[in-house]
Amino acid sequence: MYRRLVSVFCIALVLGFSLALVACGGGKGNKLEIYSWWTAGGEAEGLKALMDVYQKQYPNVKIINATVAGGAGTNAKAVLLTRLTGGKPPDAFQLHAGLEVQKYDPEKYLLPLDDIYKSEGLDKVFPADLLSLLQYKGHYWGIPVNIHRANVMWYNKKLFADNHLQPPATWDDYFKVVKVFKAKKIIPMTIGTKEGWEAGHVFETVLISALGPDAYKGLWTGQLPWTDAKVTNALNLYKKVLADVNTDHAALTWDQALQYLVDNKAAMFVMGDWTNGWFTSKNYDGYGWQCVPGPKVYDGLSDSFALPKGAPDMVNAQNWLKVCASKAGQEAFNPLKGSIPARTDADPSLFNAYLQSAMKDWTSEPIVPSVIHGAAAIEKWVTVYKDIMNTFATKLDVAAAQQALDQAAKDNLAM
Ligand code: GAL
Repeated sequence: MYRRLVSVFCIALVLGFSLALVACGGGKGNKLEIYSWWTAGGEAEGLKALMDVYQKQYPNVKIINATVAGGAGTNAKAVLLTRLTGGKPPDAFQLHAGLEVQKYDPEKYLLPLDDIYKSEGLDKVFPADLLSLLQYKGHYWGIPVNIHRANVMWYNKKLFADNHLQPPATWDDYFKVVKVFKAKKIIPMTIGTKEGWEAGHVFETVLISALGPDAYKGLWTGQLPWTDAKVTNALNLYKKVLADVNTDHAALTWDQALQYLVDNKAAMFVMGDWTNGWFTSKNYDGYGWQCVPGPKVYDGLSDSFALPKGAPDMVNAQNWLKVCASKAGQEAFNPLKGSIPARTDADPSLFNAYLQSAMKDWTSEPIVPSVIHGAAAIEKWVTVYKDIMNTFATKLDVAAAQQALDQAAKDNLAM
């Protein structure tokens, strides 16, 4: 009798303890593995701030920060796919809003997040454009933490002031400015193409500028053929831009190339606004910004977190996604990451001047989806596009690039 009482007591104790663990956010093993490619300046700080918000609410959970370095997820996405298909998923992983999700065969490997959207009222706090980008096959597969802008031209304020120049609003102005900097032995435009995606990133912004928002969108829907003369013009323009960049670009990553601007050796740099997070992390404030020359268009993308089927720490992962969606989470993450919140109710006074200007532009400029960052096209197409443009950065062969781009569209639009 006494023995039975003791064992009932022990079972109750274990049960109670497990329930308490689950209630306070601790699942099996009481850990949480978050998978991303955020290792650069600004990215790492933003992620840490988001994890800190989580940790405050769930102090007993051990967070594992699983990163695979490489901008735009060049390395991380491939490793992740192997983990998902091999049955070793993390608890949550970084995923761009848009067609990128197709890569991970979501119906097989991911859990739809519609319930979290419902319980947290997320269809009321994210902008309509973003909500439609987040849906694939009738479900939400990611919780967005931010909105990034890809087509920003950053410039060194001192170099422009010293040379009595204005940041160029048109490409004609751009090439005039380039001439002045070249004569002074200053690199007009710094770029790093080491990881293979950056040349495609910069071309995407030139393409948007040369085509305008509607024609650019048409390239990804099949409405505008890649053989169009406007694409030829965009490639020729890009070739001209690439003629005056740093000669060591193939050896540098995006953030290494940016160092030239900080060191007053380069005047301009085209990159997404994670650059703003990088500047903040380096305490550098000598920069100005504007849209890439041409019409004002917002080349947008969004980072979200997705939930794999069979996530080992399911309750912790679901709580992580709720923190990602929360006002507190987004207000902690975005000022450091250099992005604006996906939520529309964040407090703008927490953000620096660049980010406040981006918030305004997001609501006033036409928005187009970024291709290199997963929004506009399926990953298979993005990869081919990326490789074509990376080759272009060294070969500068307009006809070959245009023909390959056309073929890539034919292959992928037919799918
Ligand atoms: C993008 C991502 C950004 C930033 C950038 C550079 O794809 O959306 O958050 O990390 O890559 O790594």
